[in-house]
Amino acid sequence: MHVTIRQLKVFDSVARHLSYTKAADDLHLTQPAVSMQIKQLERAVDLPLFEVLGKRVYLTQAGETFHAHVQRILAQLKHAAEEMDALKGVDAGRVRVAIASTVNYFAARLIAKFCQLHQNVTINLEVTNRETLLQRLEANEPDMVLMGQPPEELELDAIPFMSNPLVAISAPDHPLLRYERITLENLAEQRLIMREPGSGTRNAIERVFREQGIEPVSRTEMTSNEAIKQVVEAGLGIAIVSRHTVELELSVGRLVEVPAETFPIVRKWYIAQRVNKRLSPAAQAFKEFVLAEGRAQEAAAEHATAEIPA
Ligand code: PGA
Repeated sequence: MHVTIRQLKVFDSVARHLSYTKAADDLHLTQPAVSMQIKQLERAVDLPLFEVLGKRVYLTQAGETFHAHVQRILAQLKHAAEEMDALKGVDAGRVRVAIASTVNYFAARLIAKFCQLHQNVTINLEVTNRETLLQRLEANEPDMVLMGQPPEELELDAIPFMSNPLVAISAPDHPLLRYERITLENLAEQRLIMREPGSGTRNAIERVFREQGIEPVSRTEMTSNEAIKQVVEAGLGIAIVSRHTVELELSVGRLVEVPAETFPIVRKWYIAQRVNKRLSPAAQAFKEFVLAEGRAQEAAAEHATAEIPA
């Protein structure tokens, strides 16, 4: 059977997405290039691997059996590549990091600093929400993730490295700011701009409201922190976000922190990896760097708070 690794990768992508178009996007190929690779593979295997019924793509029985083998071959290959990287030492190889979109606000700085110290290390960064991060971890794709509270159902080595204060934000002229005392109930009466289901920030906020037996009256959903900040600035409503996402806007007065009771809700950022995950020296160096930077940042924040006169 004369098949190439490239054909196997293309086949695996089509089999996972059950779509030639998505596989083409995934692999940065054109759709005809994907079809061509699959045709050649089917010729080499001498069996049809997919069937198209209506507009949907299905794996044939042969396709299913072949896919199980291909997944094992590709996993083995990845393992071989990782072991080779591991032999190359701290200043070489690749670190695959997936981060929650909220982490992006400070991760960029961390990564830039790490890359200056280790010029030959390639960082492969995926920015996504909490739910997708967990799927990636389950598929053993990233070396590590930076995320909020890790779930219990996946066996992870997770270490907290920095505080993540959630704050309520509004436009500077929002009527709520005139209240003498702002309670969680008052927030729940406003139009609340929330992240999408699957966001860790959203989970945390919903948990706080649920624990207090409060149901927000009106919600609007957005999939990005940037979009949320813009509509809040435009006066659409109130949002609860990580303070890390709004430091700039707060400092120039485009947004204000609503002095509501219960806030800030302090969460933690975690660096997490699968239990028994074998980190390359470069990945291990990245992990130690994040932990050290987190500790330094926390110490600086504590020092700044201690200096504010009572
Ligand atoms: P997210 O943040 O809201 O961007 O998913 C992750 C988290 O807080 O767990």
